[in-house]
Amino acid sequence: MDFATRIATWQQRHGRHDLPWQNTRDPYRIWLSEIMLQQTQVSTVIPYYQRFLERFPDLHALAGAEQEDVMPYWAGLGYYARARNLHRCAREIVSDWGGRFPPDAAAIATLPGIGRSTAAAIAAFAYGERSPIMDGNVKRVFARHFGIEGDPTRRETEIRLWDLADAQLAGGAGHEVDMGAYTQGLMDLGATLCVRSKPLCDRCPVSETCIARRDGRQAELPTPRVRKASPERSTGMLVLQHRDRVLLQQRPSPGIWGGLWSLPEFDPTLDAASACRELGATPDTVYELAAFAHTFTHFRLHVRPWYVIVAQAPDLDGKPWQWVDAAGLAAVALPAPVRKLVDGLFAADLAALAPRS
Ligand code: ADE
Repeated sequence: MDFATRIATWQQRHGRHDLPWQNTRDPYRIWLSEIMLQQTQVSTVIPYYQRFLERFPDLHALAGAEQEDVMPYWAGLGYYARARNLHRCAREIVSDWGGRFPPDAAAIATLPGIGRSTAAAIAAFAYGERSPIMDGNVKRVFARHFGIEGDPTRRETEIRLWDLADAQLAGGAGHEVDMGAYTQGLMDLGATLCVRSKPLCDRCPVSETCIARRDGRQAELPTPRVRKASPERSTGMLVLQHRDRVLLQQRPSPGIWGGLWSLPEFDPTLDAASACRELGATPDTVYELAAFAHTFTHFRLHVRPWYVIVAQAPDLDGKPWQWVDAAGLAAVALPAPVRKLVDGLFAADLAALAPRS
């Protein structure tokens, strides 16, 4: 049996079959799942996927919404450019494709934020198209099975991997293969057996032809990426309270957390009292909270948070800011680390905090 057939047959017997985005051919649902799953694991995605579909059940519902109504349904999932692109895609499909999802992988790949692999996955699941995928997990499967050396995020290695992926479906290879099962099988294999450390080769459907397994090189392939140290940035963050309300700021888009509500940030070389005065508020009590760091794809953000109580509310002056009370704060969609900060602060015994002024 060829490679593709062994993977597809294994998927049908041993793969995952009950994920919420399986057992449908609706390209809208499949597309949404593939975008959510790009950088996020299955167990995290499931509740977001369900909430999103309840609010935006089809392409027209999404295209007809404002972007700021979409962002709360993504808050906490991270990589917010995905949500902005999703919304842009929906509008583009309505304006350029008459509201029908593009019919093949090549057309899907012209949409904002959709690369070759995601386009192929959608086309395989929705239309059964014979178009190969090559995401991070699948690169690991191919690098090991075909013994491909070199950092798989580098262009030269990627080209070799894509050529191999094409070859598994070319000519007579995988002729009769069920593309949905093959595509899902590659994903399932990468997620469950051909994992980064201690792969479960004994249960793998392609272990007999696997070069890494033959040579005992599973730990060396794929070649680890040489990571550059990621740049560091710092910011001050304010939990600014006036009476029973806290000030929120809508983050500018593009930019980190673009479009989401968050806490106001300020130049970390300033102290919190001066930052407050710049906002037009006079601080009453200032508490320094525990600093933390959050890792984004391309940098690490060091956050110095302050809790400041002001006697007089600053003028919002048409800025994208709002005051929220405890219920509003609990309901608003905040980035995950900001939610953690806020919940931690208000769950804590505030009397235990030592004021700085
Ligand atoms: N990761 C990316 N796409 C996926 C899918 N369809 N099922 C499970 N994990 C995935």
